[in-house]
Amino acid sequence: MTGERRTYRVALYPGDGIGPEVTDAAVAVLTAAKNTNKAFDLAFERFDWGMPHYERHGQVAPDDFLSTLRPFDAIFLGAVGWPARLPDHITLAPLIRLRQAFDLYACVRPARTFQGVVGPLRRDDGIDLVVVRENSEGEYVDNGGALAVNTPNEVALQTAVHTRRGVERILRFAFELARTRRRRLAMITKSNAQRYAYVLWDRLLVEIAAQFEDVAFEKLHIDAATLELVRRPHTFDVVVGSNLFGDILSDLTGGITGSLGLNPSANLNPERRFPSLFEPVHGSAPDIAGKGIANPTAAVLSAAMMLEWVGEANTAASIRRAVDRALAAGNLTPDVGGRLTTEQMTQAIVQQLG
Ligand code: NAI
Ligand code: MG
Repeated sequence: MTGERRTYRVALYPGDGIGPEVTDAAVAVLTAAKNTNKAFDLAFERFDWGMPHYERHGQVAPDDFLSTLRPFDAIFLGAVGWPARLPDHITLAPLIRLRQAFDLYACVRPARTFQGVVGPLRRDDGIDLVVVRENSEGEYVDNGGALAVNTPNEVALQTAVHTRRGVERILRFAFELARTRRRRLAMITKSNAQRYAYVLWDRLLVEIAAQFEDVAFEKLHIDAATLELVRRPHTFDVVVGSNLFGDILSDLTGGITGSLGLNPSANLNPERRFPSLFEPVHGSAPDIAGKGIANPTAAVLSAAMMLEWVGEANTAASIRRAVDRALAAGNLTPDVGGRLTTEQMTQAIVQQLG
């Protein structure tokens, strides 16, 4: 076959803690995968943003980091945050800004059980669901203020923003995704207690669902959803919710499938006006950073989501198969009951490629 071999430009933002460790693992698997499937090439550029940058320049990321990232085909992030050395709201600010400035409104977080990994629920029926988190507004908009700080009369205001446009587009995205899967959707709110924001979600669900009559849907409040995800996780397919609820639920779905170290995510701009961002669901895990034992699976599967997004679905599928085979063969890091190091697990995945 003739044709130009595409080169995808990928910006690497390894970040802090285990972020660089799992980013190295993802790059190793991506490099091996593109060398096997010679149809495309990858050009990586690495940015030392996060704590290292802060210590040298007094800023977590340079002022122009958004325009630096704009020309890339995709962005890969390890994890950010080093709470013992810098408050999280400072280290995480560039990430939240990136999601909002690049309109990465659809955060897609698949969670499934793997053969070879025993989850805490010890059930036989498999979990295979996707959390779709609204990623551009809601509870994470930088909107609030403080009065009389550090006095007994201190007041803090933090006001969420939910727009018709924002809620409609994430619901539509989630229904479309359900159509490619088992055609079930669960929408998570707290509309019994928050009668403006989440009642808007309820109303818009009725409107959008009418356009997707082939998808069955249910509504759950966040408290009930945490219970039901433990009681009947195998019944969920697409789970959609606001920024905060999607964030909370995707840690829970990581937990019930065995480890947060297994769960990938994509922060998508579905219209492709900006580069999308791919990162594991987990954070920088300071408790295990530097020990070389972080599970690289979440980062590797995030890399597969990135390849699929740029148009290399076959190679993405071969990475997912390699992960499945490596885990099923008993290659496990300590978080899932094994003894492999990050590097050994990465090599086990690489050996299963092709
Ligand atoms: P965390 O996700 O970093 O860790 C939670 C627990 O899961 C820890 O016990 C950790 O050891 C374990 N874990 C996480 N990833 C793992 C992996 N790949 N392999 C094995 N075990 C793994 O959450 P935590 O501890 O609440 O937050 C740590 C820092 O990360 C904070 O600064 C937080 O703000 C930040 N954070 C950053 C995120 C991001 O960069 N997107 C997302 C979540 C948290
Ligand atoms: Mg989170």
